[in-house]
Amino acid sequence: MIINKCLFPAAGYGTRFLPATKSMPKEMMPIVNKPLIEFGVDEAIEAGLSSMCIVTGRGKHSITDHFDCNYELEHQINGTTKENLLTDIRAIIQAAQFTYVRQREMKGLGHAILTGRALIGNEPFAVVLSDDLCVTEPNLDGVLKQMVKIFKHSHCSIVAVEEVPDNETHKYGIINGIKIKENIYRIEDMVEKPEPGTAPSNLAIIGRYILTPDIFTYIEQTAPGKDGEIQITDALLKQASDGIVLAYKFTGKRFDCGSIPGFIEATNYVYEHVYTRPTSR
Ligand code: UTP
Repeated sequence: MIINKCLFPAAGYGTRFLPATKSMPKEMMPIVNKPLIEFGVDEAIEAGLSSMCIVTGRGKHSITDHFDCNYELEHQINGTTKENLLTDIRAIIQAAQFTYVRQREMKGLGHAILTGRALIGNEPFAVVLSDDLCVTEPNLDGVLKQMVKIFKHSHCSIVAVEEVPDNETHKYGIINGIKIKENIYRIEDMVEKPEPGTAPSNLAIIGRYILTPDIFTYIEQTAPGKDGEIQITDALLKQASDGIVLAYKFTGKRFDCGSIPGFIEATNYVYEHVYTRPTSR
């Protein structure tokens, strides 16, 4: 089983960044000079994936434009000293294929993933929430590549987790599991945004998943949970109780760019540590 496709749920309203996100997608907000979603696409390409499947919604057309040619700009910039600023995005457009589907009603992450079924079909796939920005040292694999390597042996759904402080567990999906290898847990329980003091562990699910296609059936059978949204954690828990779902404590740093403090932290980190790196493409 090989993974070729990466799903990017990008239809959310991004209310924590209003008014910036009133007419601009949260996924297009730049960390220094690169939109958040482009970092996610970079990570997917590095992991060997070539098909980027993006779930969009109303007002998100700038995402589609970003991953397409802009002939007027190309014409203007060709042969000038600024041409190198387009090198990375040109390489992405060459390396990957982009397809889109629209989520008509924003009924949560589980529903967004189910909307992506039309693009994914019946094969295992990765999911990247681009507002979680993941970075690793230049000599190490990206987070998605680390997960793809595990999938090659496990052939089951995998969620990326990180340890969070006890006073932050209520913001995340939290897993409980049996450690089966260094940094790998077999999931036994999962709870979405537990009340403070009730979390079964401090291993929080972050925005990187590898999912087997039977997840779509589990999502279809999932009733709306917290806030009336269809939660992916509910579907994953059912999948875990019928089979095996792994949690992987990844190597690297994650920034919650869906929140203002996380976005600022990521901007400072990327400016100091990543922006100055020579391009790897
Ligand atoms: P978030 O809850 O972080 O995004 O969803 P949001 O709803 O856009 O942000 P706030 O809370 O209002 O500020 C995680 C990811 O899932 C996508 C979002 O676009 C984001 O990438 N999402 C969420 C969808 O695609 N559809 C949905 O119905 C909900």
